[in-house]
Amino acid sequence: MSPTSPIRAVLALLLAAAPAGPTRAQVSEPVSEQLPTQAQARRQAPALAVPPAPEPPPIQSDEARLLPVLASRGMVSSQDALATRVGVEILRKGGNAVDAAVAVGFALAVTLPRAGNLGGGGFMMVHRAAAEDRVADTIAIDYRETAPAASTADMFLNPQGEPDRAASTRSGKAVGVPGTVRGLAEAHRRYGSGKFTLAELIAPAERLARDGIPVESGLADSLPRAAGLLGQWPSSRAVFFEGGHVLPRGATLRQTDLADTLKAIAERGPDAFYEGPIAQKIAAAVQGAGGIMTAADLAAYRPEIRTPVRGRYRGYEIVSMPPPSSGGVHLIEILNILEGYDLAGMGAGSAGALHMLAEAMKPAYADRATWLGDPARTKVPVAGLTAKAYAATLREKIDPERAKTAAEVSAGNPLPHESDQTTHFSVVDAEGNAVSNTYTLNFSYGIGLVAEGTGVLLNNEMDDFSAKTGARNAYGLVGGEANAVAPGARPLSSMTPTFVFRDGKLFLVTGSPGGSRIITTVLQVIVNVLDFRMNLAQAVAAPRIHHQWQPDVLMAEEGISPDTLALLRAKGHNVKVGATSGSANSVMAEDGLLAGASDPRQRGTLAEGP
Ligand code: GLY
Repeated sequence: MSPTSPIRAVLALLLAAAPAGPTRAQVSEPVSEQLPTQAQARRQAPALAVPPAPEPPPIQSDEARLLPVLASRGMVSSQDALATRVGVEILRKGGNAVDAAVAVGFALAVTLPRAGNLGGGGFMMVHRAAAEDRVADTIAIDYRETAPAASTADMFLNPQGEPDRAASTRSGKAVGVPGTVRGLAEAHRRYGSGKFTLAELIAPAERLARDGIPVESGLADSLPRAAGLLGQWPSSRAVFFEGGHVLPRGATLRQTDLADTLKAIAERGPDAFYEGPIAQKIAAAVQGAGGIMTAADLAAYRPEIRTPVRGRYRGYEIVSMPPPSSGGVHLIEILNILEGYDLAGMGAGSAGALHMLAEAMKPAYADRATWLGDPARTKVPVAGLTAKAYAATLREKIDPERAKTAAEVSAGNPLPHESDQTTHFSVVDAEGNAVSNTYTLNFSYGIGLVAEGTGVLLNNEMDDFSAKTGARNAYGLVGGEANAVAPGARPLSSMTPTFVFRDGKLFLVTGSPGGSRIITTVLQVIVNVLDFRMNLAQAVAAPRIHHQWQPDVLMAEEGISPDTLALLRAKGHNVKVGATSGSANSVMAEDGLLAGASDPRQRGTLAEGP
């Protein structure tokens, strides 16, 4: 019986009502013999209302996994066990980290349809262990969606000039030109081992789509939540519904059209997706839903190879995604601010440390709203934002005892609690090559529309643009002129696929979904490992906080002690305890050993080595 169980509490009350003065029983008898009989209790104590037994935790609740998986010949950590195993098999057959990552990326499009995708976009960071040039050893592949050519700056404003959220999240206008297929193909072409054809890396995904996968774990959790979104489109109902309802737990999800699309890409390369019948069907589906994307937009899509953004934190090198992601820039900006504080001395989970984290997050998100956008269209001051000297000026404004007052920041809308709309996976091979990949449909299942005859779910990434200066997107993020909609532009992202190096050697691979909370999730995994010396599983599982300047809310996951939350409130924080956030599937490398941790916040995640 736990010390706080209701039965023990009632017994304590009964004992308290017994006559005062020590008795032989109270001095020496075992506890059970001190208890009055039921009849005695009725005579001695006033009638007590026995509180109802509290609800037990639901049987489906996640258990924290607090030890990482260990392996020496490679590691794959992803949000879906089937996809992890596809990657592990490629490593086992001699593929490098990029080969495995490409296979995982295609597999997740089948097994994790809420976020894995062909119809979305993302970012892949690649580290090549054997590269001689320390700067060129890490590359960022930007396969973010682009705005169709007919896009205009005011396309998401209603007749009153206000943001039209339905248009930017639920209509065909929300769909950006997908980048995933060309992005994964480019990764394979440039950085694959050469031992596998693209077709060989796509084959497991095609098999999973054609043979079907069991509706269980995260898929069974997410489908009912997406029923409304998917159910509005007949083409999506044909894939995900059975007898008027989404496929139930235990059913089999077969995606024959998606298997055919994968087969076409395997046979003819990415052009099969971007030109010809598949591209025409995607454009027709988007236009049928009120959108403006054309087959020419798809044919014109190209990924970009970018130079990662770099910083240092307590002697470790941080290498992360540059614009059009805000992730790397603000991860480094926040770490630079935090470097001036003794977080380890304050202690993991302490109110002091959480206060410093929150106060360091706020100025970074304020900068995000003003400075960040597509580098092809706006000059992003990356060097200035990631400079140690700039962080020192921001640190001067932070009060270790008081949160910034409400008058210093604008009040805002509550944050949405989406956490599974993007997905991150990390791969390391035996040679130390690594991939950190985050990709997305934006919302869970994107716009919910499967392009008829293709099996491809379409994104709603256009909502990541600013509908107008100062307006908030679905994550409550404020955007500025730098992130305005423009033909061909890439919407600003928060995705933060990241590497950490120690003495020039790969140390940590991490990243996460979570919308606006991606940056702060990655931040806390790093701080948990480097400052608080947690093992990787603890670092990933530990409850997280998030502050994004506007709205003025300090989000806290369940699991932070009420005492700590009270101390934070006393410092002036507007604390809201909310849903969990993120899925930081990570890998750590040290002394020839690899530690893998998949995030216990989502069901069905897996880290495994070959
Ligand atoms: N769609 C979420 C992001 O890119 O940050």
